[in-house]
Amino acid sequence: MQRVSRRTLLKGSLAMAAAFATHGCATIQSYKDLIGFRPVPLGAGRSKMPVISPDYEFHTLIPWGLPIAPDGPRFNYPPTAADQAVQVGIGHDGMTYFPISEDGLRGLLAINHEFGRNPHLLGVSAPTNLDQIRTSQHAHGVSVLEIEKSGTRWQRSGSRFNRRIHANTRVMFSGPVAGHALLENKVDNPFAGTLANCSNGRTPWGTYLTCEENFNLYFGATGSFEAGESQARYGLTERGAGYDWHRFDARFDLSNPDYRNEPNRFGWVVEIDPADPASLPVKRTALGRFKHEGAAVVTSGDGRIVTYMGDDQGFEFIYKFVSADPWQTMRDRGRSPLDEGILYVAHFAENGSGEWIPLTMSDPRLSARFADQAEILTYARIAGSIVGATPMDRPEWTSVAPDGWVYCTLTNNSRRQMPDAANPMAPNRNGHIIRWQDSDDHLGTSFQWNIFLIADDHYESDQGFGSPDGLWTDPDGRAFILTDGRQPQGIHNQLLIADTNTGKIARLLTGVPKCEITGVTTTPDRRTLFVNIQHPGYGDPRLTNFPAPTDGETVPRDCTLAIRRKDGGIVGS
Ligand code: FEO
Ligand code: CA
Ligand code: CA
Repeated sequence: MQRVSRRTLLKGSLAMAAAFATHGCATIQSYKDLIGFRPVPLGAGRSKMPVISPDYEFHTLIPWGLPIAPDGPRFNYPPTAADQAVQVGIGHDGMTYFPISEDGLRGLLAINHEFGRNPHLLGVSAPTNLDQIRTSQHAHGVSVLEIEKSGTRWQRSGSRFNRRIHANTRVMFSGPVAGHALLENKVDNPFAGTLANCSNGRTPWGTYLTCEENFNLYFGATGSFEAGESQARYGLTERGAGYDWHRFDARFDLSNPDYRNEPNRFGWVVEIDPADPASLPVKRTALGRFKHEGAAVVTSGDGRIVTYMGDDQGFEFIYKFVSADPWQTMRDRGRSPLDEGILYVAHFAENGSGEWIPLTMSDPRLSARFADQAEILTYARIAGSIVGATPMDRPEWTSVAPDGWVYCTLTNNSRRQMPDAANPMAPNRNGHIIRWQDSDDHLGTSFQWNIFLIADDHYESDQGFGSPDGLWTDPDGRAFILTDGRQPQGIHNQLLIADTNTGKIARLLTGVPKCEITGVTTTPDRRTLFVNIQHPGYGDPRLTNFPAPTDGETVPRDCTLAIRRKDGGIVGS
């Protein structure tokens, strides 16, 4: 294994000390420990049920298959296509809580449904008819559910806002690629829907962003298909990835000329207004097409919004989008701040500086390759390579801390052979977290960066972990780290809290066999933390029956946890 151990890493620890100082701590002695809970010991992390710190408790809500309307069809395994269209989807991932009451204790939870493998979702390893494909399509997308707190527990409340958005829902496209030939098929289908909904974001005007990640997995070819450079870069292959939608639904058949551009209709950030169930989801093409992990939105001092985004694949890039004008002005004039602006891609220099490179036609390297801005955005990955963006170790979630530092998880990259300063491990088996601070209050094209942590440095410790994926930095300086991948001593995926001032790390929760821990959102009072258990046991009831009690038979279901400190304190503390 190779590792970069040059000044960059030293810079990282110096920057950590600097950050420590800027948090207003006069002396080390007066610093208040941000993490006060007793962590879950490493040895406890192999249970069939989640294990949480003794200072915390949790209960479950919103399992896969819950009827969206209180009197809707109950969960029956495996679900029918009709039932699944009006039930909570599978593959719970990123989510946001939108308060709708003054005390913040009644609200809408918007949840992404990223993926569901056939055996878990359908009860068979391969679908044999279109009806099963519809079930699978209806299990993807997004659920919105109204919930409220009663005593110390959460439950569903009204249903006026409840809705399901899935792979066959009517959607709109907006921004520079909308109406472009690259999105047109011979068969016009406004029910393009959304799928592979990974991480998420929240706009300052109260809408939800759901991000389409591994859309390529749902495509395959029944006949011959030549990917070409543009589609090969997005991983589209004749074979597909086992979902087999293409065998029964022509829309996902890459060899069907009627749907030639269907793959271009996925890989976008999609905006949903949770407060208006009649509104159409909108694919915001100005944010570029790639395997979007998430979208962390921040408002700069002048009112423009900046959205940070990772493209989760080995050697892909980190991007940001800056709106053309202050968001309130744009919205007042009937324009969307997500439709007009500049998409940038990140270059990390070895010396700890960095540059945001605009992906526009004014760059002669791009105008030589692409016909127009729409084409640049549709093939943003290729544009990023042309301008010399830095290939990263699978950029997953981004989060903007209150002090302006932007954190990004780089989950792992077993294929890396040559380390560089920003990706210092080769191969990178356990991942790291990078952070940067942009010039000009997030608007500038230069930044300073360092590495916040390298998972290998902690892997063998009692608070060890690998493959950081979900990430949220809270207003006090804690980083919530959620994992998806190999963990030390074979423990299940986990949620850890890191103090970004001191680097201290403590394990708050471990999941169930074969699950991913993902999705992180809190109530405004930060007394409740919602987290998701994704694909428990990969559907195998011999491994876990979560959230049902252990009986060895009940099929496990993706589910949300509502977590609280037993003393009612701030979550993470
Ligand atoms: Fe959907 Fe990159 O995790
Ligand atoms: Ca993820
Ligand atoms: Ca993941």
